Amino acid sequence: MHLVALLFLTKSPVRKIVIAGNWKMFKTQAESLEFLKGFLPSLDQTPQDREVVLCVPFTNLNVLSKNLHGSRVQLGAQNVHWEGSGAYTGEISGPMLTEIGVRYVIVGHSERRQYFGETDYTVNLRLKAAQRFGLTPILCVGETKQQRDTGETESLISTQLEKDLVDIDQENLVIAYEPIWAIGTGDTCECKEANRVIGLIRSQLNNPDVPIQYGGSVKPNLIDKIMAEPEIDGVLVGGASLEPASFARLVNYR
Ligand code: PGA
Repeated sequence: MHLVALLFLTKSPVRKIVIAGNWKMFKTQAESLEFLKGFLPSLDQTPQDREVVLCVPFTNLNVLSKNLHGSRVQLGAQNVHWEGSGAYTGEISGPMLTEIGVRYVIVGHSERRQYFGETDYTVNLRLKAAQRFGLTPILCVGETKQQRDTGETESLISTQLEKDLVDIDQENLVIAYEPIWAIGTGDTCECKEANRVIGLIRSQLNNPDVPIQYGGSVKPNLIDKIMAEPEIDGVLVGGASLEPASFARLVNYR
């Protein structure tokens, strides 16, 4: 292959690779410790070029923080409020997360947007708060099946980015492209198509080095193919992050 073509097909060495598990509302503390027993030994051979993150329920953060000390796994939460403290029953603040060693937080996941009234406005507030309190937000964007079928994918994502990223520091940000029709359905987005949409997302950023993940039914048998795509800098994984062996295969992609 011509050298110039090869350079274009290779991921930028500047962009960080982030392999993140999203446990959603799964696992008690005891179950999360059991997971670590099976998972941590498989990190011995994991190449240094990738960040490994586990975004777990709030009740598991403290126990995982203690048990991940000295390991290369970074801890993530699944939500953060826009105030540092206050009368916001059921919410969690940035200082509460950073105090126990949390580094990442998922913001704007489609399940929050769909079931808990999250809007682009509140997503933007949460992103700003995450950064203000020293967390790295993982912003999720993506279209529904209907929006895809009616050709609205590009405009929808473009609008989400425009609204969500107002006053956001793109030096401390991860984005996950998560087509909603692919989440938890087994209907993984075709790699080339995910790569195309992620390229479009990148073209709308003012920092081209923001890591952009793909998420939606990522499975061990697909990971090498997904990660071979030049625009895809990692994955955000639900179901396949719950089992030690399958998450281990994902973080040890070749
Ligand atoms: P899934 O979930 O891997 O189970 O499809 C992905 C996500 O919701 O982040």
